[in-house]
Amino acid sequence: MGVRIAFIAALLLTGCENVGIAPNPAGAEAAARGRVAAERLGCGACHVIPGIWPAGTSGPSLENFRHRAAIAGRYANRPDRLADFLLDPSETAMPRQPMSARDAADIAAFLHSAPQSANAR
Ligand code: HEC
Repeated sequence: MGVRIAFIAALLLTGCENVGIAPNPAGAEAAARGRVAAERLGCGACHVIPGIWPAGTSGPSLENFRHRAAIAGRYANRPDRLADFLLDPSETAMPRQPMSARDAADIAAFLHSAPQSANAR
């Protein structure tokens, strides 16, 4: 239990660290590739992702995902953990979407990139 509380505290801290940091150019390129990969892989079939069609609702909305503390309520929401989750979401309700490690890293960069919608706060 103590470990769980420490983990949640760590999640909250890492969540705050990312606020207001502008993406670097390399990150922007990865994010652009990730947007294309997310579209190609059909993530929009189950998720609302601004700029990606369609906007399915059987999975949680991924709008402003970079502001979330946790991935699927389990993992710290850092780009590297997000890429790992995308490659193997088997501990969660998300069915595995076959993709390369490169796609996973690019999509993680995309979901952690600057405002994906006009409604971003
Ligand atoms: C067949 C439907 C389906 C498809 C297609 C799908 N997902 Fe998911 N996804 C889910 C479900 C259901 C969950 C909820 C998992 C959970 O919380 O246990 C989820 C969870 C997630 C989460 C964590 C959301 C949160 O609120 O923490 C991310 C990020 C994610 N998916 C990204 C993607 C990406 C990127 C793709 C495309 C490569 C994709 N998903 C394709 C159904 C889908």
